[in-house]
Amino acid sequence: MAKKKLRSQEWFGREDIYGFLYRSWTKNRGIPHDQFEGKPVIGICNTYSELTPCNSHFRTLAEQVKIGVWESGGFPLEFPVMSLGETLLRPTAMLYRNLASMDVEESIRANPLDGVVLLFGCDKTTPALLMGAASVNVPTIGVSGGPMLRGVYKGKHIGSGTNTWSMSEDVRAGKMPLEEFHEAESCMHRSHGHCMTMGTASTMASMVEALGVGMPGNAAIPAVDARRNVLARMAGRRAVELVKKDVKLSQILTREAFENAIRANAAIGGSTNAVIHLIAIARRIGVKLDLDDWDKLGRDVHTLVNLMPSGKYLMEDFYYAGGLPVVLRTLGEQGLLNKKALTVNGESIWDNNKDAECYNTDVITPWEKPFKKNTGIAVLRGNLCPDGAIIKPSAATPKLMKHKGRAVVFENIEDFHKRIDDPQLDIDEHCIMVLKNCGPKGYPGMAEVGNMPLPPKVLKKGITDMVRISDARMSGTAYGTVVLHSSPEAAAGGTLGLVQNGDIIELNVAKRTLHLHVTEDELAKRRKKWKAPTPPLTRGYYKLYIDHVNQASDGADLDFLVGSSGSKVPRDNH
Ligand code: FES
Repeated sequence: MAKKKLRSQEWFGREDIYGFLYRSWTKNRGIPHDQFEGKPVIGICNTYSELTPCNSHFRTLAEQVKIGVWESGGFPLEFPVMSLGETLLRPTAMLYRNLASMDVEESIRANPLDGVVLLFGCDKTTPALLMGAASVNVPTIGVSGGPMLRGVYKGKHIGSGTNTWSMSEDVRAGKMPLEEFHEAESCMHRSHGHCMTMGTASTMASMVEALGVGMPGNAAIPAVDARRNVLARMAGRRAVELVKKDVKLSQILTREAFENAIRANAAIGGSTNAVIHLIAIARRIGVKLDLDDWDKLGRDVHTLVNLMPSGKYLMEDFYYAGGLPVVLRTLGEQGLLNKKALTVNGESIWDNNKDAECYNTDVITPWEKPFKKNTGIAVLRGNLCPDGAIIKPSAATPKLMKHKGRAVVFENIEDFHKRIDDPQLDIDEHCIMVLKNCGPKGYPGMAEVGNMPLPPKVLKKGITDMVRISDARMSGTAYGTVVLHSSPEAAAGGTLGLVQNGDIIELNVAKRTLHLHVTEDELAKRRKKWKAPTPPLTRGYYKLYIDHVNQASDGADLDFLVGSSGSKVPRDNH
C-alpha cells in the first residue's frame, strides 16, 4: 500500500519557489535540511503565559514534548495561542474560551502540522484547545500541566478556591482577622500547577484522561513531580506514532469516549463546568451529546473520590492513592465503562486501567462503600428552566435538595453586591436567592457567581448554605445547594428574568424539577413588560460573542463555530 503523503509535505516537500520559502525561513534557527524530508511535523500548542500562573511551567513541559518528538523521529514546532488565566482575566475567562478555540483551530489548519500536542492546565485552556483541535481533526494528544502541591496553612491542608470561599466567609462573619487571611494567601499556592482541588482544571484534566485523548496518569500527577515531565515526553513520542498510523482525533473522541467521561465526572465529583465544555467539544467533533445525557449516564454512578470541594482531600492525595486509573477500573468492573474505547497510547481504555491498584481507600473509596451515593449531575426542568438547569448533588446540602421558599431577587451581580451586606435586606435562611443576567449573553461570558455568598445576617446564625438559583456558572472549587446554567438565561428572555421578590419557588432534586409558582397569565403580563438588558459593549469581540453565543444547555459555543472545517486549507493559491 502506498504511504500516505504527510500534510506537512504540502509545504516542506515542494520543489518550487514556495518550497524554498517554506524551508528557507524555517532553517533560520539552524534546522538541517533532512528535517524537511518527510518527518512528521508535530505542533506543540502552548498556553504558557506569565498572566496564567497555573501554566507558568509550560516552557519546561514543551521542551519535554519536543525531546519525545525527536526521539520518535518527528520534527517538533512549538507555537503560542491565547492563554486564559482564570484568576486574572476579567470579566471572566469563559468569555474568551471560544475566542481562544478559534486561535487554536486556525493556527493548526494554517500551518504545516501533521499532528499536535496540546498543553493546557488552567480551567478554560483545556476546553478551548480541545474545541479548536476538534474542528481541524488531525492526530492530537492532550497534556495537562498537573495540579499544584497541597496548600498548607497552620499545619492543615488547604485547597485552591474551596478554602478561599470558606475563609472569605469567615472574614465576612468576623471570625477570621485580615492578617490571617493575608498569611493564608502565601500558603495556598506554593508550587507550579493548576488548582489542586477537584475544581474545573482538575476535572478537565480527568476528562482528558477519561476521553482517552491524554496519556494514562494525565489527571493527577503533580505539576512539579518529575513524572509529569515523563508524561509530556511520552506524549511527544506518541504523537509521532499517531501521525504515522493516521489516528485522527475523531477516532478517539467518539460517543463512547464522551459517555466514559460523563461517568468519570460523576465518580470524581467533578465540576459543573465540565457539562458545558464537553457538550461544546462533542459538537465540534460531530458527536451528539446533550444535557439529558449527563443526568441519564451519571445517575447510577457513586462519587468515589473524597476530594474538595465535595470532600476533604486534594489532587496530590488522589495521585498517591492511585489516581484516575483506579476510578476507571472501578467503573469498568461495574459495567459503567465502554471498555473498547480507543485511547491515544494505542490501547483501549480498559487495557490501560484494568490493573490499577488503590493505595488509600479513604481517598478513593470502593464502589461498595462510596464516598457519596448516586450523585452525578442532576438536570432540572420546569417552567423556570424549560431548557434545563443543573445542580451538583455531591456539593449540596441533602436537606435543601427538596425545598420551597420565597424568592429574594437580584437583578444582576452589581445589584447583588450592593445589597447583600445590608442588614435591612429582607431575607432568612429559608429564602431562595435568585440572580439574573449572569448567563452567556447577560454577563457576558457566564460568570462564576452562581454560588452567591450568603448574607452576613444568615452567616452569623451559623448557617452555611441556602438554595441559590441563577443562569451563571459556579467555580469548580465551590459548593452549596446551587442551581446553575438556567436555560434560557434571563437576558435571552428566559423565565428567570421574570421572577420577582416574594414569588414562591420549589426545588425537588429527586424529581428533577424546578418550579416557579406563578400563573401563566401573570408570567405573560410580566413578559410583555420585560426589556433585554443593555450590553456593556456594542463593538468588537463582546458584540460578536453576545450576538452569536449559544445557551449553556448547548455548550455556550459561538453558533458559527459548532462543527468542523477539517484540516484542508481552503482557497489556497500556493
Ligand atoms: Fe487556574 Fe484554578 S486558577 S486552575
